[in-house]
Amino acid sequence: MNVQGKSLYHEVHARSLADPEGFWAEAAKEIDWIEPPTRVFDASQGVYGRWFAGGVVNTCYNALDRHVERGRADQVALIHDSPLTNSVTKFTYAELLAEVQVLAAIMRDFGVAKGDRVVLYMPMVPEAVVAMLACARIGAVHSVVFGGFAAKELATRIDDAQPKLILSASCGIEPGRIVQYKPLLDEAIRLASVRPKACIVLQRPQLVCDLSPGRDYDWASLRRKAMNDEKKAPCVPVAATDPLYILYTSGTTGIPKGVVRDNGGHLVALKWSMFNLYGIKPGEVWWCGSDIGWVVGHSYIIYGPLLHGATSIMYEGKPVGTPDAGAFWRVISEHKAVALFTAPTAFRAIRKEDPDGQFIRKYDLSKFRTLFLAGERADPPTVEWAEQQLKVPVIDHWWQTETGWCIAGNPVGLGMLPVKHGSPTVPMPGYRVDVVDEAAKPVGANTMGSIVIKLPMPPGCLPTLWNQDDRFRDAYLNEFPGYYKTSDAGYKDEDGYVFVMGRTDDIINVAGHRLSTGGMEEILASHPDVAECAVLGVKDAIKGEVPCGFLVLKAGVSRAPAEIEKEIVALVRDKLGPVAAFKLAITVGRLPKTRSGKILRGTIKKIADGDTWTMPATIEDPRALDEIGDALKGRV
Ligand code: COA
Ligand code: AMP
Repeated sequence: MNVQGKSLYHEVHARSLADPEGFWAEAAKEIDWIEPPTRVFDASQGVYGRWFAGGVVNTCYNALDRHVERGRADQVALIHDSPLTNSVTKFTYAELLAEVQVLAAIMRDFGVAKGDRVVLYMPMVPEAVVAMLACARIGAVHSVVFGGFAAKELATRIDDAQPKLILSASCGIEPGRIVQYKPLLDEAIRLASVRPKACIVLQRPQLVCDLSPGRDYDWASLRRKAMNDEKKAPCVPVAATDPLYILYTSGTTGIPKGVVRDNGGHLVALKWSMFNLYGIKPGEVWWCGSDIGWVVGHSYIIYGPLLHGATSIMYEGKPVGTPDAGAFWRVISEHKAVALFTAPTAFRAIRKEDPDGQFIRKYDLSKFRTLFLAGERADPPTVEWAEQQLKVPVIDHWWQTETGWCIAGNPVGLGMLPVKHGSPTVPMPGYRVDVVDEAAKPVGANTMGSIVIKLPMPPGCLPTLWNQDDRFRDAYLNEFPGYYKTSDAGYKDEDGYVFVMGRTDDIINVAGHRLSTGGMEEILASHPDVAECAVLGVKDAIKGEVPCGFLVLKAGVSRAPAEIEKEIVALVRDKLGPVAAFKLAITVGRLPKTRSGKILRGTIKKIADGDTWTMPATIEDPRALDEIGDALKGRV
C-alpha cells in the first residue's frame, strides 16, 4: 500500500512481467544464500528454464537457524493444537531447531544423504514438521503422503519416489475413530516393488503398534539416544535447483503425478508471499488449517510462515465436531491468530451447524484481520456469510499443487483491491494469466476458455514431474505452445479479474481435496461383476462435490445390485482411501453415449445435479438418459 492508500498491485505486477529477473533478484535478497545465484533465470536449463541457477542454499537454515541466530530463538515457531488429543504443544524456534538437528542426524546415520528420498506417511503431529525440515536440512527430498490415502496409493508413491527411509506413526485420529497406520504401511511395503532400508515409527499413546524387527525403529528411542549422544546434523548446502520435495497429486489416470519443488524458487516465492500477499509481519501468529499432506499444508503450515519468522499454528481437528462449530474461533482467540487460511468447505460445514454465528460471538477475535480461502471455488453465498459474520475481508485465492503458491489472489500487503465475489481477483507477480481458445489464441474479456500461464512460470512453480520430463510436457506444455495449461476453465473480466469455473479434465474437488475420477473408474472396473462404469462429481452442500459411480453389470450377473454396490464402495475406500468420500454407486442398465461411443458425462452430471439440460444431438438413444434419471431417484 502506498501513502495515498492506493494498492501497489498494478505497478508491481507490471514490473514483474516487464523485468522478471530484476523483480525476482530483488525478492531473492530476503533469502540467506550460501552462494548467490549466477543467473536469476537460466532459460537453457530444465524443461522450460530454471530459477536461481548456480545458487547454493539450505531451506532449513532459512526456516530455522537464521531466526535463532538473529533474535527469534525464544519466539514460538509452531503451535500444535489438537482438540482430538486435548493438547496444545508449543515449540520455540530454538526448540524446533534442536529437534530438527537431532532427527536429521538420525536420518543421516541411516545413510540418508543429499538427493535421497524420504517418504512421510504421518498424521498432523509436530514430528511431521520436524521430519520435513530435517530432510531439508540434509538435502534429502521428502515426499509426504496424506494419511487419508490407502495402502495401494502409498505403494504407488513408494515405487515412484524410491525412498531410502519411511517415517510414519502408529495412528492418526479422526473424530470417533483411530486410524491405524501400521497395517497400511505394512501392506504398502508389501505391494511396492521398492523396499526402504528402514522405517522410523512414532508411537502415539492413543494406539501403540508392533514394530517389524530389523525394519522398524522406534522414533522416541532413537531420539533419546541421539540426544544423549548430543548428535546434531549441520545444514547441507544444496543447489537452488535441487529438489526440496516431491508431492504427488492426482493425474488423469490412477498413476499420480510427482510434482517437484526446488529449493531456491520455493524459498523466494514463499517468503515474498507472506507479507505482500497475506499481509503477515514476522512475529505474528498465522494459521493455515490444511493438512501437511497437501500442498497448502507444505507451503503455509510449514515453509512460508517459518521462512518469514512468524508463528505457525498446526491444527489436528475439524471445523465442526471437535467439539463444536466454535473450534476455529477458539483456536484464533486462544493463540491470537491474525489470519486464517482454509478451504470454503470448512466454512460451509460451520455455517450449517451455526447459521447465525452464535459461536463466533463467544470468542475474542479482535486480533483477527483476514480470512483466506482456497482449494476449490469459493461460492459467493459462503463468502458473503463469512464476511457478514466475521466482519473482516474474506479473500479467495486460486492455486494448484503444481504452482506451490497462489496464481491469482488479492494482495493484502501490496494493498487490497476491491473484492468481486466469485473471483479469486488478479494474477500474482510473475504470472501472466491468459484465457485462450483451442488454437491457443487469447479470447476477449468475459469469454470462457482454457486458463493458461505464459512460460516461464514464476519461482516456486514446478520445474518438472519427478523423473518424467515427457509426461510434464505432455500434461502441461504441449497443448498450448508457450504456455502452462492449468486444466482450469474460466474467464477474465474487463478489469483483469480471473474467474475460475471448473476443471477441463476428470479431476474433481471433494472437500478441497483433489481426486481423479479416472483413477476411481479404474478401481470400479477392477470389480469382477462390472462391465462398464463412469464416475463423476455431483454437487454436495458441504463438500462442494462428491463422487458418484454408475455401474453396468456384466451379462449373467445374478447377484443383487445393492450387494455389488456395497462392495464397490468398500473397494474404493480400500484401494484409494476414505478421503475419496465415495459413498454412492448406482447400477444402471447402460450408460448414455454418443453415436461414436463417448459417455455423456456432462449430461449425466446435470441430471444428477438437478440442473437444466438439453438432449445432446449426438446421443445414441435418448431413453438412456431417462433411465439415468430414474436410477438417481432417491439416491442423490
Ligand atoms: N487420515 C485418515 N482418514 C482421514 C484423514 C486422514 N488424515 N482425513 C480425512 N479422513 C477420512 C475422514 O475420517 C472421513 O472418513 P469417513 O468416511 O469414515 O467419515 C473421510 O476421510 C472423508 O474426510 P473429509 O473429506 O475430511 O470429510 P469429513 O466428513 O471428515 O469432514 C469437512 C468434512 C468439511 C469438515 C472436512 O473435509 C474439512 O475440514 N475440510 C477442509 C479441507 C481442507 O482444509 N482442505 C485442504 C485444501 S486447502
Ligand atoms: P490442488 O492441486 O489440490 O490445490 O487443486 C487445484 C485445483 O483446485 C485447481 O486446479 C482448481 O480446479 C481448484 N481450485 C483451487 N483453488 C481454487 C479457487 N480459489 N477457485 C477455484 N478453484 C480452485
